[in-house]
Amino acid sequence: MILPNLKDAKVRTNKEVAIKTNEYYIDSELEKIGKGKKYFVKTYGCQMNEHDSENIKAILEDMNFIETDTMENADIILLNTCAIRENAHNKVFGMVGRMKHLKSNKPDLITGICGCMAQEEAIVEEIMQKYKWLDIVFGTHNIHRLPQLLKEVVEKQKQEIEVFSIEGEILENIPVKRDNKYKAWINIMYGCDKFCTYCIVPYTRGKQRSRMPEFILNEVKELVKDGYKEVTLLGQNVNAYGKDLGISYDMANLLEDVAQTKIERIRFVTSHPWDFTDEMIEVIKTYPNIMPYIHLPLQSGSDRILKLMGRRYTKESYLSLYNKLKKALPYSSITTDIIVGFPGETEEDFKETLDVVKSCQYDSAFTFIFSPRIGTPAAKMEDKILLEEKEKRLHELNELVNMYAKKANDTYVGKIVPVLIEGVSEKSSDIMMGYTDTMKLVNVKGAEEFVGQIVNVKITDAKTWSLDGELVS
Ligand code: 5AD
Ligand code: SF4
Repeated sequence: MILPNLKDAKVRTNKEVAIKTNEYYIDSELEKIGKGKKYFVKTYGCQMNEHDSENIKAILEDMNFIETDTMENADIILLNTCAIRENAHNKVFGMVGRMKHLKSNKPDLITGICGCMAQEEAIVEEIMQKYKWLDIVFGTHNIHRLPQLLKEVVEKQKQEIEVFSIEGEILENIPVKRDNKYKAWINIMYGCDKFCTYCIVPYTRGKQRSRMPEFILNEVKELVKDGYKEVTLLGQNVNAYGKDLGISYDMANLLEDVAQTKIERIRFVTSHPWDFTDEMIEVIKTYPNIMPYIHLPLQSGSDRILKLMGRRYTKESYLSLYNKLKKALPYSSITTDIIVGFPGETEEDFKETLDVVKSCQYDSAFTFIFSPRIGTPAAKMEDKILLEEKEKRLHELNELVNMYAKKANDTYVGKIVPVLIEGVSEKSSDIMMGYTDTMKLVNVKGAEEFVGQIVNVKITDAKTWSLDGELVS
């Protein structure tokens, strides 16, 4: 049993990060474990977690488990969890209740929790006390150990907990089962060293570790060969890519090299305004296959709150970066993340956030009420604002954000835009859906035979969160 602890999770050292290409392994004994059995993996949270689940699924399939999309049919259920806000926790514990019920009717069912919540000391303590029947708990740093952990569970029939608090090496041989045939996630770095005061990620994902460029570029080249049209380069703060590598190679270099592989579409998330360089802007401008879409989290428009959040920029410097981006890339769409109700946020501070929103007129924004996370500095800050007041601010902010989202979408009506058709839309089986270069969701008529292709679509109508269009022949 290896338990997580917050003290170790905070530590950052200059120890070099080893790259291992044969750490994950599977043998004939492990391959037998899943024969004739089914797995169900449920994912919560960010794209990073989605991508981790693609690794988990591939590992389970190496063990001969087969995927099922109903929990009731599964022989193993894993919840890949998110710790970013309290409501993510609550959703997971709701599911844990369902797993308990299923296990009471099917005692051989293997149940488990992994991902960011598993990295939290308090959560694992709770699991050990109240959820003794959960079979397996593993964290974000040891996904590759899943076969060995499952073997222990099957053989010893006791709770198996293995969570490392100090991040390990970068592992380059973990298999992946991609959910999508046209778009792929690619991790370019792991962890985060920014330690924004509200954020749990630096504790659950460890120190910033960039992958070596050659591994990333090889992955992209393989995807191009396999017919993939789009890659999204993933990291908590992709703009800091390379800073920890000890070589003179940064995000601008990586973007340029990825662009030269000729993959048709490149996206990257998430950008921290602090590390957005002029060189990056130049590369984005130069290469048409780098999509004109930037997610640029603001968090707050008040300098006082930004300082308390440890964000390392001011309202003025954020706006100046925003304006520089819009000037260099006028066609681009820019989205953001905003937190309301951070401890001590006054009405005046909140107005400053609204000011920035009015000035930037974002294409869309993810908005949140501050959620205290155990172990982060902000969780200890005095928080006198009533929930009612926070909800009121969130509502006011959302009204404004939605108004600008609709306004931005309206400008598309009548235009012809490139859309990567992904499949059938949720609306109806004879309407296809896809995304524009600027990351707008479009429901398209008459594009059935173009799934997996980038086609020209004429936009006929705009909603707040999507566009309608028809194929241009
Ligand atoms: N409370 C509320 N929102 C948070 N985020 C991160 N941590 C918290 C928290 N403790 C938001 C930030 C971040 C996004 C992924 O989630 O806006 O950019
Ligand atoms: Fe969290 Fe800040 Fe790192 Fe983003 S940059 S993951 S908000 S600590």
